[in-house]
Amino acid sequence: MEPPVPALHERASRAAAHLAAADSVRLVSHDDADGLTSAAIAGTALEWAGVEVMTEIKHGLDEDAIDELAAASTETVLFTDLGSGGLDRLAHHASTGQFTPIVVDHHQPVDASIEHFLNPRTVGLDGGRELAGAGTAYVLARAMADQIGAVEGDPRELAALAVVGAIGDRQTVEGELVGANQAIAAEGETAGMVESGTDLAVYGTQTRPLPKLLEYTSDVRIPGITGNRRGAIKFLEELPVPIKDGDRWPTWTELDPETRTTVASGLMTRAMERGVPSDRIERLVGTRYILAREEPGTQLRDASEFSTVLNATARYERSEIGLAVCRGDREEALEAALELLREHRMNLSKGIEWVVETGVRRESHVQWFHARSEIRDTIVGIVAGMVLGSDGIDRHRPIVGFADKLAGDGVKVSARAPGRLANRGIDLGQAMRVSATDVGGEGGGHSMAAGATVPAGQEPAFLAAVDDVIGAQLDG
Ligand code: C5P
Ligand code: ZN
Repeated sequence: MEPPVPALHERASRAAAHLAAADSVRLVSHDDADGLTSAAIAGTALEWAGVEVMTEIKHGLDEDAIDELAAASTETVLFTDLGSGGLDRLAHHASTGQFTPIVVDHHQPVDASIEHFLNPRTVGLDGGRELAGAGTAYVLARAMADQIGAVEGDPRELAALAVVGAIGDRQTVEGELVGANQAIAAEGETAGMVESGTDLAVYGTQTRPLPKLLEYTSDVRIPGITGNRRGAIKFLEELPVPIKDGDRWPTWTELDPETRTTVASGLMTRAMERGVPSDRIERLVGTRYILAREEPGTQLRDASEFSTVLNATARYERSEIGLAVCRGDREEALEAALELLREHRMNLSKGIEWVVETGVRRESHVQWFHARSEIRDTIVGIVAGMVLGSDGIDRHRPIVGFADKLAGDGVKVSARAPGRLANRGIDLGQAMRVSATDVGGEGGGHSMAAGATVPAGQEPAFLAAVDDVIGAQLDG
């Protein structure tokens, strides 16, 4: 079989050879959907090689964590979906000769080198859009399968998890996976694990009853439907074909193809009539990635819903449950994960309600709220993103949410920008990094979604700095 990502093949083969020769390996991965799928893929590959694995899921990898790991490990530690930012520290410990780090990641690396480093960014690929941690781990797993000859099943079956990881990290371009991600998805299709096709690009097509599905089309706002349950029901009732099945609303996937077309074109017509720009209407359709071996109508059938299940476990410090689901547990772990998802949804709707009721304050360029302990610090970013579409919240201004940290000192900050600012030079990651550093904290992230931690009491100074930086970005 051809390697899935030729540019990484040689490095992957060398790392696989080292790992296959180890007796036991400590596996350290990131606590989000991409990190959990990365750990499941790498763990499976190590099992093929008969290597004993101990897995730890971490929120991040700071210098202290690296020092601790290096002191406690006398042999190989495999890092997935993290490690690139600590490469210098890892290199330092590797030079003692007692500790061998292997980093399989897609984040921006610092300037340092270790013997085994697998990262799309070092071979000219876009680690933000073309390959995530899980895809990079998949490259390693495929090299491992080559290394040891026969493995149980087809190694390309792991591509399904790689797709979930990429989708979890939002690595789509105009609604679909591209580059190495696309090559991996294609391998998953060949192995009978993944199916893809153009579909309504709204979250929850497998599990949400239609009115709820339409009510939450948050990415593309359709006036009178998005955020409006009655409007969504009225829209469905007025379509030329009956949708409701007795008193039960079906899910999108339960509709026959013709009815789906009717609903989709009805939505587009409505969006056009209400003046939604055509480039935004186009975003209502995209490529959907289905996990062919999962039960239809379940939370694991669709890659996007699967990644949400995993994130729900990670955000409540129950990553081991998400990892077990990735490793195939469809009983206890899945049940526990779905319970966490229900709690997560409830916490989100309580959080949104709190912000909408309490209201936000406006600065010159941003709006903000401080939830203290009303909203968990681990979900304040999602809440900030979701309230951007709510009544009483300005849809033109970035939003900054604060929440007290549950563990440790300081205040968690999350910033989100409304989609309409996408092409106006905004860079929340930079705004967070600069402003947090100014007040003795730390921050970073992407242009439309970023975060920070700042010392308690520094919120006003931080906010003033953010407002200035964003003002300058939007003017520039
Ligand atoms: O935590 P939150 O969801 O708001 O983070 C949004 C993005 O910002 C994430 O991609 C995260 O990795 C990044 N971030 C960061 N530094 C921080 C906090 C968040 O780079 N201190
Ligand atoms: Zn990742």
